[in-house]
This record gives sequence, C-alpha cells and structure tokens, in this order.
Amino acid sequence: MNESQGRFTKRGVDYPIIDGMRTLPGRYYHSRDIYAEEVEKIFYKFWLFGLRAEQIPEIGDYQLVQIEDESIIVLRQKEDVFKAFFNVCRHRGTKLCTEPKGRFDQNLIQCPYHAWTYRLDGRLQSAPLMKEGHGFEKAKCSLHEAHVYNWDGFLFLNLDRNPEPFEVRMEALVNKFREWEMSKLRIAHHIRYELNCNWKLILQNYQECYHCPGVHPLLSQWTPVHSAQHDYSKGAVIGGFMDLTRERGSMTMDGSAAGPPVGCVGGEDLQRIYYYSVFPNLLLTPHPDFVMYHHIIPQGPGKIINDCYWLFHPDTIKDSKSQEGIRSAVEFWDLTNRQDWQVCEQMQQGTKSKRFTRGYYSGREDVLLTLDHEVLKALGHTIEDGDD
Ligand code: FES
Ligand SMILES: [Fe+2]
Repeated sequence: MNESQGRFTKRGVDYPIIDGMRTLPGRYYHSRDIYAEEVEKIFYKFWLFGLRAEQIPEIGDYQLVQIEDESIIVLRQKEDVFKAFFNVCRHRGTKLCTEPKGRFDQNLIQCPYHAWTYRLDGRLQSAPLMKEGHGFEKAKCSLHEAHVYNWDGFLFLNLDRNPEPFEVRMEALVNKFREWEMSKLRIAHHIRYELNCNWKLILQNYQECYHCPGVHPLLSQWTPVHSAQHDYSKGAVIGGFMDLTRERGSMTMDGSAAGPPVGCVGGEDLQRIYYYSVFPNLLLTPHPDFVMYHHIIPQGPGKIINDCYWLFHPDTIKDSKSQEGIRSAVEFWDLTNRQDWQVCEQMQQGTKSKRFTRGYYSGREDVLLTLDHEVLKALGHTIEDGDD
C-alpha cells in the first residue's frame, strides 16, 4: 500500500490512506457531556440490536431491553410478529414490568398499580371504573411503541419516532450472510463481560488487526494478520474477513472446525472468518460453523456490559459428539476476548491522561476513521485542526 496522502480503492470500497491520520481526542472516551450527547443522538435515535427472536419463543413471551433510562418491553405478539413498547403505563406513568423476562398471562399486560390492562398489540383493553369522555379515550391510550426489525433472528429496536428505515440504514446487512440462515441458529453459550472502558474502544478494537500479532498469538496462527481485508465500509456497517490457514478450520483451541458448516455456507466462505460491526452496538462474527456476536451495552462513558453469544445449528447443539467442538470455540474466544478487554481497559486508562490529546492511526487501522466519522456525524461535531 502506498502510504502517502490520498485515497485507494479495494474491492470497490474507497479508503483514505491514513498512516498518520488522527484519532478522536481523549475526551470522547471520558467526558460525561459527550456521553450524554451520544445517548440522545445515537442510542435514542439509531437502530440498536436488542435480543434474539429465540429469546422470546412463544406468543406472549417478553424480555426487557434497557437502553439508558428507557426500559423497553419486547414481546412476541404473533408467530412472526414482534412488538416493542416503552415500559410505561399510560395512566400515571408506572413502570409496567419489573421482571427482566417472562410471559404475559392471558396475553394481557396489566399495570400493578390501578390495573389498567393492555393487549399484546399495545391497545388499552380496560381501565377499571373509568368512563370515556371528558378527555379520556381508550383509543388514545395505547402503549407508546418503539420500532422493531427482525433481521435473520436478530431483533433490532429503534426508539426514535421517525427512524430512517432499517433497510436503508442497514442496507449492507439486509442480504448479507443469507447462506448462514442465522434465524435457524440457536444460542449454545453466553458469557457476560463487564468492562471498564468506553463503548467505542470495543468497536475500534474489533475492526483492526494491527494488534493481533502481539495480543492474540493463537488467533494469528489460525488467521494470519496479512489476510485481513475489509469488504464493506459505509455508514452503519463496516466489515471484512480473514482467511483461515487450515482447510475446514475454525476459531477453536486446536484450529479445527467446531461443527459442520451452518446453513448452506460453501466455497470461499468455508475458509473465512467475517468480522462485521453494526454500529453502534453489535459485533457480528460469522464463522463457517457457528456465529459469535457481541452485544455492547454502554453504562456511562467508562463502562460497558458486553454480552457475548455463540450461535450453532440446533442439531449441533443436541449432538453429544459436538460438545467438545462447542466448548473449544467458547474457550478460544473467551481467551481472545479477555486479551482484547485487557488492552481496551488499558487504553481507557491511558487516554484519561492530560498529556494524551489525539493519537495517530496506522494504515492498518484505516476503517477506524469511518467509525470515528460516524460518531462525529451523529453528534454534529467537527474536530478542530488545533485540537491536539
Ligand atoms: S399507573 Fe398504571 S394503572 Fe395506574
Ligand atoms: Fe483483538
């Protein structure tokens, strides 16, 4: 790569050549004011991953999804219809549900305070002893609804009143990974990590492998750093892949496949591990034989919950011969994740120093600029030249 000023195109993607391009200023990882702006302009506005459809398997099942101060009830209304409602009673604003998940008895949502009762579509069914008229109309007291989109079993939520359509915002994702048939996969394992770092550091770390040789010796054996390529980089979706060195390999402790390929994955995809960031809170890692994803839940400027899940085909999950493969995939990624968390937490600490202003990206970290631009565009910020 020519690393002078300019741009280059790879697989139809236009990249700046950026050895020496500048990172975000340190305050973007620490400032309470910037974090509050991110909540308003990103987390309350953009499409966010919420949960998997399989986590609410039956009609009437629900889970709560907490997005900063907003508690959202996500429920299955019909076989293939999902609804999301603000967890707020229309009578006097009481929080309706406090259990993080469950099933609505008789498919009715009842407020614990004065027993106003809502249907699964959000309409108010009954308000005891209240008569319509004098300003009260049941039809105007449905639960406040949020938007839901089911992408291959991943339920995305949007709290904005008029969001950009999912198909527009996530254009690159809509028909990507069809071969994995992800809606048919099921959660085989879950680990919750609680980390002391800013949410953006996790996205940045995920999209560059400049750190891999030093931080991930085992990962670098199965997928050499020079094989890393980006194949999509626009707006909300940034992605790429790395090539597996071993025929029919995967990311496990011994580098062999954890199970048979999922869906109808074939051809060169049998030799690739994909890494897709779905801005701002989902990291998706399709392997030939399973899918790992990270659900990032910010808890303030310097804290996140990172829920990591491993999806396998249900037949593989049931097969006793596959248990060792699943365990090995989990062990490999748990080890690799912890290596990443260590450096992300150290970066959180270092960037707090008064002497740290802005860093310098290498050419191997080119797409991190795309991420930074996405954040700055959402916030309506520009970084001044002298801001270093
Ligand atoms: S606040 Fe819900 S019924 Fe009164
Ligand atoms: Fe890493």
